[in-house]
Amino acid sequence: MSKNAEALAIIRARAGDAPVRLGLVLGSGLGHLAGAVEGVAIPYADLPGFPHAAVSGHNPNFVIGLLEGVRVAVFGAREHYYEKGNSAAMRPALEVLKALGAQSLIVTNAAGSMRPDIPPGDLMLLSDHINYSGLNPLIGEPTDARFVPMTDAHNPALRAALTASATANGIDLKQGVYAWYSGPSFETPAEIRMLKLLGADAVGMSTVPEIILGRFLGLECAAISTITNMAAGMSDEKISHEHTKAMAPLGAAKLERILRHFLGNLR
Ligand code: HPA
Repeated sequence: MSKNAEALAIIRARAGDAPVRLGLVLGSGLGHLAGAVEGVAIPYADLPGFPHAAVSGHNPNFVIGLLEGVRVAVFGAREHYYEKGNSAAMRPALEVLKALGAQSLIVTNAAGSMRPDIPPGDLMLLSDHINYSGLNPLIGEPTDARFVPMTDAHNPALRAALTASATANGIDLKQGVYAWYSGPSFETPAEIRMLKLLGADAVGMSTVPEIILGRFLGLECAAISTITNMAAGMSDEKISHEHTKAMAPLGAAKLERILRHFLGNLR
């Protein structure tokens, strides 16, 4: 049996085999959102092919169950490229999500802002992204399916629905372009000035590989950043992972309200 088939069998044995509608990847400091789901938590360590590396501030559980009546699967943690140098680290887990029946994927992250009008504590819906790392999780994929179109990779209908849910909750959900920088070191002020010139509005160390993989698998995708800091050189505040973890919960409460409303209205 393949690793994915083994993982699927374990998930179905513990959580039942009703199809999942949507997958949600939680970013730094957002892991506790998995607790909003009424369902079963399965440690990644029990699931072949799921990432085992862990970054503090992440919750290494796969949670499957109901949120606002919709069957969802939540990845409480991701493996970042910077952990082991594998940009395709989330591929098996996302393949399992697809096999569970998911149609949509919502990815979240913590990010630094390059826009003074999108300060820490705000949420930014990704209108698009820049793969500044030059890495790609589909390198080595032998089939023609690797030539994934990335126009509208951030699905317009999903974005419209998420924006409507934010508005309905009185939340100002900004939109902007996210640049993926590999990390784990933060960017220099000169790099941030460059990214601004290139048209980026926020910067982070994740998400882009998952959106590429999601599109490869035929999932409709959207992503939301919680802004935890102004990017390097843009404020006097010191940038650190501690700060990211401390600030992410500010956005998490808003994110939960948006997601609940969005799921409650999902067709
Ligand atoms: N840069 C990269 N990743 C981040 C940042 C940042 O400023 N803040 C949170 N994650």
